[in-house]
Amino acid sequence: MVAQTPNDALVRCRNLAHEYGEGEARVFALRGLDLDIYAGQLTLLVGPSGCGKTTLLSIIAGILRASHGDVTVLDTALQTLSGSEKTEFRRKNVGFVFQQYNLLPELTAVENVAVPLIVAGERRSVALARGRELLASLNMGHRANARPQKLSGGEQQRVAIARALVHHPRLLVCDEPTSALDERTGHAIMELLYGVAVDPERAVLVVTHDSRVFAFGDRTAYLNDGQVVRVEARTGPRPAIAPLAKQPTP
Ligand SMILES: Nc1ncnc2c1ncn2[C@@H]1O[C@H](COP(=O)(O)OP(=O)(O)OP(=O)(O)O)[C@@H](O)[C@H]1O
Ligand SMILES: [Mg+2]
Repeated sequence: MVAQTPNDALVRCRNLAHEYGEGEARVFALRGLDLDIYAGQLTLLVGPSGCGKTTLLSIIAGILRASHGDVTVLDTALQTLSGSEKTEFRRKNVGFVFQQYNLLPELTAVENVAVPLIVAGERRSVALARGRELLASLNMGHRANARPQKLSGGEQQRVAIARALVHHPRLLVCDEPTSALDERTGHAIMELLYGVAVDPERAVLVVTHDSRVFAFGDRTAYLNDGQVVRVEARTGPRPAIAPLAKQPTP
């Protein structure tokens, strides 16, 4: 049974507001938004272009500081952290997947995956071994030594997901992870993210306006004009997708 009470929320947003710019140029991107995100679930964030999805994701991930309101991730109030504390918190607890995979072109797939561990001070040989293992579990073991430009879009996205997961984050955030992919590949990527979300310790948040993937949401939050206007919980059974094989913890 999936946790559903407010106390179990891995992410809590309360009365969040965000403005970009000043004076005439000011844009109200979020306008007093409340949202809870639970571990063991895949939460979808959907809504029209410009409604504030990326802004919300960036605030939850600790990349952007909200103008007003509270965001608590893993019982830590992000607005109380200094810049360097927030970087450290992010490095430990958050993984990111973007629409464009942002892989380093001069590194191989496995080197890309290993980068976060190496940056965190892990020995290169250990980081590469862990990267290789993770790629294998994502059916990418045979492409571990390829550079990104030799990989298909779906393969690049798998590498990006492996990179986002290599440090065992409790929160995985994904901004439009399927929109650059064809339907079949996008579906496979969502299956993968869903397998990741099935971990009871982890929450996965996916921003999408790709209606082809809506069936993957355990909960779907609809945003409009900087507010959550509706949250729907899954009514039917969960997709029958095996959880991602457990990785050894660092
Ligand atoms: N750096 C910025 N400076 C000024 N305005 C911004 C900035 N980033 C976003 N905005 C504005 O804030 C609002 C919310 O933008 P956001 O990127 O969060 O929307 P979105 O829902 O992710 O849209 P899309 O679906 O097109 O990616 C929009 O009106 C956008 O123009
Ligand atoms: Mg966006």
